[in-house]
Amino acid sequence: EKGGWKSFMAKEIAEEPEAVADTLRGRTADGRVILDLGAIDEALLARIERIILVACGTASYAGQTAAYALQQWTRVPVTVELSHEFRYRDPVLDDRVLVISISQSGETMDTLMATRWAHDQGAATLSICNTQGATIPRESDGVLYTHAGPEVAVASTKAFLAQIAALYLFGLQLAQVRGTMGDDAIARVVARLHAVPDAIREAITASECVPTIAHWMADTRAVLFLGRHVDYPVALEGALKLKELAYIQAEGFAAGELKHGPIALIEPGLPVFVLVPSPRDQPLLHAKVISNIQEIRARGARVLAVAEKGDTAVLPFADEVIALPLVHQLMRPFVTVVPLQTFAMELAEAKGLDVDQPRNLAKSVTVE
Ligand code: F6R
Repeated sequence: EKGGWKSFMAKEIAEEPEAVADTLRGRTADGRVILDLGAIDEALLARIERIILVACGTASYAGQTAAYALQQWTRVPVTVELSHEFRYRDPVLDDRVLVISISQSGETMDTLMATRWAHDQGAATLSICNTQGATIPRESDGVLYTHAGPEVAVASTKAFLAQIAALYLFGLQLAQVRGTMGDDAIARVVARLHAVPDAIREAITASECVPTIAHWMADTRAVLFLGRHVDYPVALEGALKLKELAYIQAEGFAAGELKHGPIALIEPGLPVFVLVPSPRDQPLLHAKVISNIQEIRARGARVLAVAEKGDTAVLPFADEVIALPLVHQLMRPFVTVVPLQTFAMELAEAKGLDVDQPRNLAKSVTVE
């Protein structure tokens, strides 16, 4: 039930802090991660040589986001593939590869077929899933459930954050087994993870300016999203949300790619969301993104900066600043995605559209 909320999507965004908290609950103790992954045991984690994440849509962006931390923490090479392209690329698979499928529903046919195929090729399979007993976790060697609670709105929101949280837990467990991070470093990240739900609450509050921005943009024909590092997949997710909910042409780019082509799209009045890295954690990337902002602003784009609170460098160049709480760079997707989800929802509403049931879409895609 919607319980007083204007839509399931609004309710599910509000539930994001709990979705992450519930996904973390009982899975850490004394600054360590204590996952039970069934057949994906310590011996297997110690010997794998590669990880491939497979998923579709929003779940694939959760995978792309988490891949940065996973590889950094574990030193195991991590790649991300769309489930429906995976098999057709003839990937090199054997029992030294762990294939992790990410699926809210656990019923997405493309992801199920990718999982089955990986299993048949001898790879180990782990499922990150939000639905107890769904087909994909049943067919996988191990499962790590996200505890986001039922997601009713067709557009995925809280499940995305829970998927990243689950993948981060997995990454830390793998780092523990392989000794690629010291105990102190692990404990620090565990503490950062537990601080995420409060940071999301702050991001929800910081997004209270977003409805006004969305309402004066109801006639917009196109919107761009730029991000770097972990915020690059978040930019892709922001664009996907806008396409599916508000039926607006939207594209996400890695900010560094701008001068390799997309800058030709910039014209006066074009709204561009720019996810600005933390000036404290990522000063080099921060400076590069500020210079991207200057470039697009000089061509008349309307810059909507999603920045860290207190980041004064963006102020001279941004038309709007959404000021998010200070979190470590790897935790930023949990907060940067919130205003983008809110923006898509509010813009769809401003256009009089049904945000819970966008046209042409189904909650789970059970055909290939
Ligand atoms: C976008 C969205 C879809 C799903 C995708 C995978 O808002 O909901 O892109 O993320 O269809 O679905 P699951 O996670 O159920 O496999």
